Order: sequence, then structure tokens, then C-alpha cells
Amino acid sequence: MAGNAVGLGNFLRFPTLAAQNGGGAFLIPYLVSFVLMGIPLLWVEWAIGRHGGQFGHHSAPGMFDRLGGARWLKYVGVFGLFTNLAVAAYYCYIESWTLAYVWHSIAGTFRSADPAAFRAQFLGIHAGSLVAAPGEALFWFLLTLGLNVWILSRGLVRGIELVAKIGMPLLLVFGAVLAIRGLTLSPGRDPGVVASPLAGLDFVWRPQLSGLASPTTWLAAAGQISFTLSVGMGSIHCYAAYVRRDQDIALNAASSGWLNEFVEVVLGGSIVIPIATAFLGLEGVRALAGGVDSYSLGFVTAPSLFAAMGWFAPVAGALWFGLLFFAGITSSLAMGQPVMAFLEDELGVRRSRAALVFGAATLGLGLVCVFFYGSGAFGEFDYWTGTFALVVFALLEAIVFSAIFGIDRGWEEITRGADMRVPRLFRFVIRFVTPAFIAVIFVGSLVQPAGEWGVAARSLASGHGWPLAPDSVIGRVLHVGATAGGRSPLVQDFTRLLLLALFAGCAFLVWLAWRRKRAELP
Ligand code: ALA
Repeated sequence: MAGNAVGLGNFLRFPTLAAQNGGGAFLIPYLVSFVLMGIPLLWVEWAIGRHGGQFGHHSAPGMFDRLGGARWLKYVGVFGLFTNLAVAAYYCYIESWTLAYVWHSIAGTFRSADPAAFRAQFLGIHAGSLVAAPGEALFWFLLTLGLNVWILSRGLVRGIELVAKIGMPLLLVFGAVLAIRGLTLSPGRDPGVVASPLAGLDFVWRPQLSGLASPTTWLAAAGQISFTLSVGMGSIHCYAAYVRRDQDIALNAASSGWLNEFVEVVLGGSIVIPIATAFLGLEGVRALAGGVDSYSLGFVTAPSLFAAMGWFAPVAGALWFGLLFFAGITSSLAMGQPVMAFLEDELGVRRSRAALVFGAATLGLGLVCVFFYGSGAFGEFDYWTGTFALVVFALLEAIVFSAIFGIDRGWEEITRGADMRVPRLFRFVIRFVTPAFIAVIFVGSLVQPAGEWGVAARSLASGHGWPLAPDSVIGRVLHVGATAGGRSPLVQDFTRLLLLALFAGCAFLVWLAWRRKRAELP
């Protein structure tokens, strides 16, 4: 479960969002979201998963079907297939870059090549061209997907569990070595170092109350909590379905959540930002974070900073991209397992064939991200599936769990066999606070304005309309600022239709599976 949660989000998304949202100002909304939304949803998802597992369901549609009598419940579980498949498609692409970059770090590519130019060439992006021409990136993507399919086909114990047992400790060691090296960089001693890396730690960790008043910071913080814990995806449900009826889920859910937070805030906060602060100064970091996507900090800034570390450069690159690879693959496997479990449990597909189906679907979707990376497909996947769908599914499951399954049964399910005393306050939190919290986040993300909320409200009041942010849901739908950075509205619309078709396809499979089940009943 920790391997599932600890992923690229911990090392790429978190530092970028923290830097963009004022460092320590991000921290308080982030931790509040963890307690009011993250931890409760972890308990809810583990409970739904273990409950469904008792009936032989290891994927969301069957689990939701068992939460009540209504037929539509299983279609809520469609999210648990759709999101995993779609996120896996673009996630495996990023994962494949990490593998490629391990190789290029060791080969010394970044000693001579500028990482930004290298990245554009690697991804095959050319200004003004709708379609990318990736040569090498395609090779690494196919390799990574093949690796995922092979591991999944080996089954839980010889596949996922083995990779997590090897990958997780290695990741922690790699991270610790990098953090120690980064934090001991010294302005007087190391060439190119202009500031103390500890100023970077101070920036990320010193809590600032100012973030509390910024809805934008809240949205970013809550979105990050969902992504990093993998809640609202359907993968936690799946792993939890393999837990026995009376085995603890309460302490396991909480400790995997806390472990993820340790890796994210402590380790993830101690690497890129302090190293960047050492070489660029705090102002440099702030300026840099303002204009980048979640991936530039890791794939452009990090290798260019490592290049200044002399003999340590290839080691730092291999450790950094190696840790990203292990973080990534233990998460992408967790996205594959629910899809495979659905095919196996509900449609009677054999395991090896189910792994191939997952691989083929991820390949088809992933190629759209590969070839239309620069023109917007990748961003659409990231937004609609890695951000929007998580919130929608989380909201639906929070409501279904307390209103339809019932909070009494739900609470019994969470606490049965518990190795910790779950504070009773959380019964109230799960029932009222978490759904309300997610609902507010959802509405906020629909209408998020460009700039300050107060300024937007004054603009509305004075008759000048509400300035929608390009990244708000409605702003996206209306293509506000859509062409920035070479993106094409045509590609964006095509990608959205594709994702809708994928959702409909998953729903159709669920319908088919249940029709077959009914036909088989005596
Ligand atoms: N939870 C996974 C991550 O953080 C998806 O990357």
C-alpha cells in the first residue's frame, strides 16, 4: 500500500506545488486536507475494499455493487477502472522517462547537453508541430509498459509484492543519500553554490498562516493529497480486497498514509528544493517554480543542477531518477491490478491475458499522450483523470459509504479487527466533514478564477464578469487560454472525447459482466 501511494507525486508534484504556493503557506492547508479528507478516505476505501473482497470482488464495480441494493451502484465503480487505466497511460510515460534518464545520467549525457534542449529532443517536440516525433522516448515507453505487464502477469506475491519489497527500501536509501548530499552543500566550499540549502528547507517547512486564506492554495493542497495518497482512484480498494475479514485495516490505512506523508514532506521536501536553493538562491527557486509544469523541476532543473556537482553528477542523476523509477513503478502496478482483477473476477479472463489487455489498453491511450504531448493530450489526461476524476470519485464514494452503506455498518467495517483505537470523532468527520470538504473543493475547482478570489469577486460585482482560470473545470471546457504553450483546442477536444469513450467503454464492460452473471444464475 505504501508502494501504491509513494509515487512520482511525492517527488515531482509536491515540491513543485509547494514552491508555487509559497512553501510553508502550502503546508497548513495540505496537512488539514490530509486529516479531514486523506485519512478518512483511506479508511473508507480500505473498508469498501475489504468488504468487497469477502464476496470475491477485487475491483470497484463489484465492491460498490455490494454496498447497497441499487443497480446503479456498480456504475459508480466504473471510476475505479477508468481512472486507473487513464492515469496509468500517462503515468507510465513519465515513468519511462525516469528509466531513460537513469541511463543518460550514467552515460554522462547531461555533461554536454542542455537538459531543456535534451528533453524537447527526447520527447520529439518541435515548435509549431501538432504531432511529436519521439524516437527514443517511444522505445523507453514500450520497455516500461512491457515491464509493467510482465510484473503484473506474475501475480501479486511474485510480482507486485516482490517489486515493492525491493523498490521501496532502495527508494528510501537513494532519497536519503541525495538529501544528505544536498543539505550539506555549502556556499563557501562547493563551486557554484550561492546559498545555504537549509534556506530551501525553511521555505518548504516553516508553516505560514497566509495559505489558509487562499482558496487556490486549498485547491492545490487537496488535489495533491488525493493524488499522492491514490485516493479516488480505485487502487487502494483493490489492494485492500486481499485483506481477510477480521484483519486490521484501521492501523494499516493510517500508517501507510503517514508513511506516504513522511516520504513526501520530509524526503520529497529535502531534495530538489534545497539543492535548487543552494545553486539558484531562494528567489531563483520561486521564479523558476512560477512558470513550470510538475515535471520540469525533476527532468530539467534537477539534471542541470546535478551537472554542477562534479564527480557526484552521474551518481546523483542515477539515484534521483532511480528513486523516481521505483516510486513510479510501484504506483503504476497498483493501477494495473484493479483493471486485471476486474477482467479476472467479473469476466473470467485468465491472468496472463488480463495483463496483456491492460498493457494493450494502456499502450493505445499512452500513444496519444506520446504523439500529442506538446499539443495538449498529455495535459488533458493529467487534468481530467489525475485531478478531476479523483475528486468526483472521492465525493461519490464518501456519500455512498455513509448514506447508502450506512455510517453504522461503515464504522463497524473500519474498526473490525482494528489494531488501533480509531478516534470516534472520525465517525462524524467521515459522515459530514469529508463529503462537505470534497464538495467545496469540487465547486471551487469548477469556477477557480485567474488570480485572487477577492479580485475576481470585485470584478464580478462591478459587472466585468468572473475571470476564469485556464485550469478551472469550466475554464478548461471553454478553452480559456487553451493555446498557451503550443496547445491545440482540437487535440484537447479529441482527447476529451477519447476519455469519455473510455469511460463509456468501461461502463459497457460492467454492464456486460453483470448481464452474463444474471444469465448464469440458475
Ligand atoms: N499516489 C501516486 C503518486 O503519488 C499516484 O504518484
